[in-house]
Amino acid sequence: MVSAEAGIERVLWTEAEVAARVGEVAAELAADLRALLEPAVVVGVATGAFLFLADLVRRVDAPLAVDFVRVESYGGGTESSGKPRITADLKVDVAGKHVVVVEDIVDTGNTLSCLIAHLEKKGASSISVCTFLDKPARRKVNIQLVGDGKFYSGFECPDYFVVGYGLDYAELYRNLPYVGVLKPEKYKNDSSN
Ligand code: PRP
Repeated sequence: MVSAEAGIERVLWTEAEVAARVGEVAAELAADLRALLEPAVVVGVATGAFLFLADLVRRVDAPLAVDFVRVESYGGGTESSGKPRITADLKVDVAGKHVVVVEDIVDTGNTLSCLIAHLEKKGASSISVCTFLDKPARRKVNIQLVGDGKFYSGFECPDYFVVGYGLDYAELYRNLPYVGVLKPEKYKNDSSN
């Protein structure tokens, strides 16, 4: 069998660098969540956020609930269509709660905008965003946080096709413990690019 590493052109952040930065973000988040009067609800956006969320909450010593949503864009491919929809909703009631949305990456901002509107409609009292990667160069929609919500970010990501630590190409590479740039030949014949 071929290793997942075979598809990687170069490493952007090593496993150790990822762990160190996740620890810093977790410390910042924990201090804010401990100052709240009631437990926050941490909402992971499936699938990409699964590793970041798992590593993050294990380092946050504060009372919190964890739940997941799935947000999908019509059309698929590597470009967000700009019309996301919620295809799997929360189990936890977020009315009156402080919500922290956990993402692997904020790219155009379409997914987050859709999700924030959805959570606001459900009555969340504040909405923060904690993203592992932020790619501001690709932003099409400004992220409007709610209430006292804050924006936490692990790394600012250059505009490369990155995979690993939850991020995929065609559902592969999510299991890499580091973040790398995908070899162009892995996706250059993909008509969805
Ligand atoms: C990715 C990522 C974010 C979204 C960001 O999800 O996990 O949710 O795209 O892009 P945007 O800012 O342009 O909306 P994707 O739809 O690829 O699903 P996945 O989490 O299952 O990989």
